[in-house]
Amino acid sequence: MTLTTRTLGSFETTAVGLGCMGLSIEGKPSRQQAVETIHAALDAGCRHLDTAWSYYESGGTEQTNENLVREALASWKGPKDEVLVATKVGHYRNFTDGKPSWGTDARPENLIRRAKESAMALGVDTIDLLYLHRPDPQVPYQESVQAMAQLVEDGIAREVGISNVSVEQLDMARGVLGQKLVAVQNQFSPVFLDSREVLRRTQQMGIAFVAWSPLGGFRKALDQSKFEPFRQLAQAKGVSYQQVVLAWELALGEQVFVLPGAHRPQTILDSLQAGQLELSQDELAALNQ
Ligand SMILES: NC(=O)c1ccc[n+]([C@@H]2O[C@H](COP(=O)([O-])OP(=O)(O)OC[C@H]3O[C@@H](n4cnc5c(N)ncnc54)[C@H](OP(=O)(O)O)[C@@H]3O)[C@@H](O)[C@H]2O)c1
Repeated sequence: MTLTTRTLGSFETTAVGLGCMGLSIEGKPSRQQAVETIHAALDAGCRHLDTAWSYYESGGTEQTNENLVREALASWKGPKDEVLVATKVGHYRNFTDGKPSWGTDARPENLIRRAKESAMALGVDTIDLLYLHRPDPQVPYQESVQAMAQLVEDGIAREVGISNVSVEQLDMARGVLGQKLVAVQNQFSPVFLDSREVLRRTQQMGIAFVAWSPLGGFRKALDQSKFEPFRQLAQAKGVSYQQVVLAWELALGEQVFVLPGAHRPQTILDSLQAGQLELSQDELAALNQ
């Protein structure tokens, strides 16, 4: 089956991508299973992989996930040039008192250094899509965004995006980056709807909205009641409720992309079907209540 594609900047790529984070952080599967999961997604037609400089276990080797993505692509027999690989800079991992956490460093010089390291780990001269991972409270946002513009000018990134932003930060970044800004990656799911305004603004701007943890994330205990309407519709349609969640998100706008995570082939193969799942206006209205 051909998977649904959408326009993301200068790329035409699958509306459902594979979020690769879980393949390299706490709770990760074996290396072999991680590679099999990426290969299964690619074999099924997925052409959108999402990674980050900071996707490694706290206390572990940096850039593990970017290296995994490069190795999985190298050993995949399909058309590698069709695959959009997005990565992010501006985050790192902490491991103090035995507790893993995420740290932010979006100083311009470090964003530029990390982006070059990302390109090297991915084995490319130019990164397809590079996100500024998160605003750094210690650094004026405008300065971090200017570093992203520099990275495009220097040919380190073909296109840039921003992540974990408010409407105000999106407007500021647009002011600095203009047409170079092609995507916003924010958290969005039935249990996290705070990004609705940002989603609307991306539609007005004609840029992509890429939903992270679109199923609510794999690490948190979720408020399962929020998924009940999706479960009911899924039962009636004979599909997984995760497919209905992803299809509902994609129906919020032609600019929306989703990045479900997976630790094994079965889950991403199921999620990839969501792009083709049609929901009627009545069904969408019921889910939007
Ligand atoms: N920009 C940012 O700051 C940021 C932050 C967090 C995440 N992200 C991105 O978002 C991606 C996804 O996030 P996430 O993994 O936290 O959350 P998620 O996609 O909401 O949830 C992943 C979980 O859902 C399960 N799942 C996925 N598809 C399924 C299906 N069709 N049927 C049943 N279960 C299914 C997976 O199961 P299995 O474990 O059984 O495979 C996994 O446990 C990350 O990989 C990363 O690329 C970005």
